Amino acid sequence: MEVPRRLKKAFHTSLIFIANLYFSTIRFIFWFINYFFRERVYVTPPTDQLLLISATQAVRMISKREISSTALVESYIHRIEQVNNTINAVVVKLFDSARREANEVDSFIAVSDEEDIQRKLVEQPLFGVPFTMKDALEVENEIITCGVYNRRDTKCDRTAEAIKRLQAAGGILLAVTNVPEVCMWVEAINTVYGRSKNPYDARRMTGGSSGGEGALLGAAGSVVGVGSDIGGSIRMPSFFNGIFGLKPTPGVIPLEGHIPEPTGYKTNMLRIGP
Ligand SMILES: *[C@@H]1O[C@H](CO)[C@@H](O)[C@H](O)[C@H]1NC(C)=O
Repeated sequence: MEVPRRLKKAFHTSLIFIANLYFSTIRFIFWFINYFFRERVYVTPPTDQLLLISATQAVRMISKREISSTALVESYIHRIEQVNNTINAVVVKLFDSARREANEVDSFIAVSDEEDIQRKLVEQPLFGVPFTMKDALEVENEIITCGVYNRRDTKCDRTAEAIKRLQAAGGILLAVTNVPEVCMWVEAINTVYGRSKNPYDARRMTGGSSGGEGALLGAAGSVVGVGSDIGGSIRMPSFFNGIFGLKPTPGVIPLEGHIPEPTGYKTNMLRIGP
């Protein structure tokens, strides 16, 4: 049986009408509550210029001895302590190990000549640069929950391949950031760590699922971060927090150690990326 075209059109028009009505109502309710009852709280712009440099600028400055890796790591630790209260983006702080690794980088620089340093940078293009990652990539001996309550006490027994490679490239893992439960929602809230908030307006959400990561980067609390994306989980929180995120080409970055472990068609869709 053929549905008449006019009936289809009428159905479509009424669905659009209902959707518009729904979203306008929601928008009005939140505008009303926010305008009259909730004050905008936000993260203030950084004054420390080190918080605004890129990873490539950072590694260039470290190799030219303009800054130490320790100074860089300390700047970001300080910034995380400053902003996390507002945005609740960080779930695990790895400050002690980061300080140790930064110290090793600085010791190497101190005893090396230009040639040694240049050779090092070929092997380790992120030498001494701190980075952060979403709470969905395994890290040996750390609690990585993916927002799942049952995982809140379990330490991982391996490190995700993508993170291993970043570390092998000289990157220093500084912190782990919040996600929605099982990375399944378009924000970052779960029963283990609560809700992450947008640094521009803490009444607003961060997007997701790499929402804590987006919020922390948007708040200048990290140089560069690792997320993962099936249908927007890197790209959307990036847009929500005023930064840029990329879903890479298939097959470039290995998925081993991602939580949840992708199976079936999802292995063709999930990507780990910056
Ligand atoms: C980040 O801030 C939130 C909100 O103040 C706090 O509950 C949480 O413990 C902080 N994260 C860490 C790892 O300290």
